[in-house]
Amino acid sequence: MVVKNKITVKDFQRMKDEGEKITMISAYTFPIAKILDEVGIDSILVGDSLGMTVLGYENTLEVTLEDMIRHSQAVSRGSEKSLIIGDMPFLSFGASIEETTINAGRLVKEGKCEAVKLEGGRERIKDIEAIKAIGIPVLGHIGLTPTYINMFGGFKVQGKEEAAAKRLLEDAKMLEKAGIFGVVLESIPWKLAKEISENLSIPTIGIGAGEFCDGQVLVIDDLIGLSSIVKPKFVKKYSDTQKIIRNAIQEYSKEVKEGKFPSEEQRYD
Ligand code: KIV
Repeated sequence: MVVKNKITVKDFQRMKDEGEKITMISAYTFPIAKILDEVGIDSILVGDSLGMTVLGYENTLEVTLEDMIRHSQAVSRGSEKSLIIGDMPFLSFGASIEETTINAGRLVKEGKCEAVKLEGGRERIKDIEAIKAIGIPVLGHIGLTPTYINMFGGFKVQGKEEAAAKRLLEDAKMLEKAGIFGVVLESIPWKLAKEISENLSIPTIGIGAGEFCDGQVLVIDDLIGLSSIVKPKFVKKYSDTQKIIRNAIQEYSKEVKEGKFPSEEQRYD
């Protein structure tokens, strides 16, 4: 079924060209995807951040392709309009071009994603070209790329030194040339993100990269205040969902203990 008004990678380019900011949220479940879609969020990224937010891992390295496929399916069932992008988890890329391409294909064929995201700079060019060659749009991701945390020595801002900044700008240009339709810039200084955004004709999507990117992405759990993980500086909490849930559960527990729930209203005759 072709859905009217479905956002595609062509819309991403149009938004960049017309100066319209792109909205993206990392989300993993059917009910949340439904809300994001109804509100009109341009794109849902089924991020491997689900390893931390949903599965309780310390980082994203344990996330499997099967995890990603399962959550992509849930998100795609909840969404009609938003562009759905599936994240390629650690070791689903990088072993061989053939495996990388098959894994990207599984996110589309089984996970119902419409594009994939791949972390890394110039070292990923051959993967991007191969994935694109079978008809899958690729979103790049540079800066603080969580699958590389053991190389970075933790979750640290990238591109602060001149040489590192120069390399990131070069990477962005090389990935654009390889055919990505956009690039996530994570945790880099805002001036560098601005320079990259001005030097690329494809859109940049920032997370911890300042206001001059062409779009923004946040993890849903951070945005709604559900996450219990330490809040990075770049997160803005738009609601305190933890508190709302906690209050509801406490009230339920109290009412059951006091014999107030269920009442006549909730029983069958
Ligand atoms: O996994 C994820 O959710 C991401 C975004 C934070 C960009 O990669």
